[in-house]
Amino acid sequence: MCGIVGYTGTKQAYPIVIKGLKRLEYRGYDSAGVALQQNGKVKLYKKQGQVADLEENIGTQNVEGTTGIGHTRWATHGEPSDRNSHPHLSASGKIAMIHNGIIENYAQLKSELHRKGYTFNSDTDTEVLLNFIEEIKIQNDCSLEEALRIALKRVTGAYVILLIDDENPDTIIAARKGSPLVIGVGKNEHFLGSDASPMLEYTKEVVYVNDYELAIVKPDELILKNIGNEKITPYIQKLDIELAAIEKGGYDHFMLKEIFEQPQTIFDSMRGRLDAKAGTITMSGVQQYSEQLIKANRIIIVACGTSWHAGLVAEYIFEEICRVNVEVECASDYRYRNPVINKGHVIIVISKSGETADTIVAIENAKEKGAIILGVVNVVGSSIARLSHAGAYTHAGHEIGVASTKAFTAQLVVLTLIALKVAYMKGSISNERYKKLLAELEAIPEKAAWILNRHESIKKIAEKYKNARDFLYLGRGYNFAIALEGALKLKEISYIHAEGYPAAEMKHGPIALVDDELPVVFVATKDAYHEKIVSNISEIKARKGMVISVITEGDEAITEISDDVISIPEADEIVAPMLTVIPLQLLSYYIGVAKNLDVDKPRNLAKSVTVE
Ligand code: AGP
Repeated sequence: MCGIVGYTGTKQAYPIVIKGLKRLEYRGYDSAGVALQQNGKVKLYKKQGQVADLEENIGTQNVEGTTGIGHTRWATHGEPSDRNSHPHLSASGKIAMIHNGIIENYAQLKSELHRKGYTFNSDTDTEVLLNFIEEIKIQNDCSLEEALRIALKRVTGAYVILLIDDENPDTIIAARKGSPLVIGVGKNEHFLGSDASPMLEYTKEVVYVNDYELAIVKPDELILKNIGNEKITPYIQKLDIELAAIEKGGYDHFMLKEIFEQPQTIFDSMRGRLDAKAGTITMSGVQQYSEQLIKANRIIIVACGTSWHAGLVAEYIFEEICRVNVEVECASDYRYRNPVINKGHVIIVISKSGETADTIVAIENAKEKGAIILGVVNVVGSSIARLSHAGAYTHAGHEIGVASTKAFTAQLVVLTLIALKVAYMKGSISNERYKKLLAELEAIPEKAAWILNRHESIKKIAEKYKNARDFLYLGRGYNFAIALEGALKLKEISYIHAEGYPAAEMKHGPIALVDDELPVVFVATKDAYHEKIVSNISEIKARKGMVISVITEGDEAITEISDDVISIPEADEIVAPMLTVIPLQLLSYYIGVAKNLDVDKPRNLAKSVTVE
């Protein structure tokens, strides 16, 4: 899941492309590169490492040109290195190409080209596709656009590719299937990007390119075509996001900024939807499919990573107040299974980016079988949003830190609102409970701020345990999913091995791990399992484990038996996950920082997993 940027217009392309790459660096940071059209020739610069390393490497060399493309890489085929960096140059040296995605049949194409005498400078699938396109251009004596269309009919896999060459000055040719591509429309200039962040400061007018579409982009012209060479009228949409949303705003890291934004983003995810006083929830997407939701005897939730953890919390909520069976499926596995899905079955798909390849394919398969897809998505206009029949945006704003934080709590809010609305429509919840939960939801932003104001105490705990080799995270009921999420955050940010586990399962094996060097984090807020969790903590203490407990403020019983406690305000167990996760986000952040790690761009990760 690389980041791609393109510019053609009247301004110098290099500074715009480099700035765009920095905005997209959360998508991958194994290497970076740019290609510029200079005096009818293509000029390439590329380097292993981050965009800053590329800039340093370029130094004072000639970066003139008003048309350019740029790439920041998350390695799939070929290890991170200078020679595997993008852009790649064709055998003739006349065409440069960048690519985000995976060409699945590249080995077959490569052997065909080998037989024609081609050799390769890199191990990438991208260079193979590029030379395959050039070979078709030469054999058919046709235009680059025509050669691209012919080539793509032979390609399997996912791609966004951008090409520039010697013969078409001021022109960028692009194609999309499976990976995201946005085109920004300016005055005598156009911008291309994996998302809108590289173009936000120049234009708010964008076109979302769909699968199997090609774009021929010039400063004053944008032509969209399908792979059958038929013209498509570009549908220009207006972006509803401000530049400040993608700046650090005085915080050391985007992750910390996004954690501290949660009182506002949690409020934003319920704004215009929740009216606790009137006792109403307004969600047009859900309303549209209310009949199917009310009648559904089974709801399937599909997601990956942190979004999957949000699905696990939602499972408990739907089960409890909607009295419906819920299955939570990991999309990365579900897409390869042959699940029993029939017409009218309801699938709730959860995705922050809306571009996760495994999740996209899983819902495409389900849609083919007649399922109704309700999306809970953060990125407006993303593929999953467009694939869903209806749904709700989470309104958490742009999330740049690779470890998802504010998007997760916003997902929990939206899923809880959907469950409450369905329960109310079904009459499976008492009026009194319904009203109480609306009031509990409304109080969450303030309670989140209360926790954040006590971040210093969490920082001290992080300092104490930063050198631990392993961590265990335990919880029961709703808190089990939060234990999983806490463990994922620590893994992502600190590279410490951490495992989330149902607390009651410990005695069936994992308790063997416990000794006086193992920190065990308990998500132990007051709920129906409270007494049980007290016994679980005692079992760990009996084996000298070091216990850090997230508790409901004033819980003496657990404070007495824990080494460290992190308090949160009292809250109903259905909404408490929106609060209990915040201390765990901060704990992982402060441990990552204490270990001098790049918490915004953790190694081997990327924000949006657009390849399988
Ligand atoms: C979470 O911190 C990770 N970045 C990752 O697990 C993420 O949740 C997963 O890739 C799913 O992404 P999505 O919500 O954008 O679909």
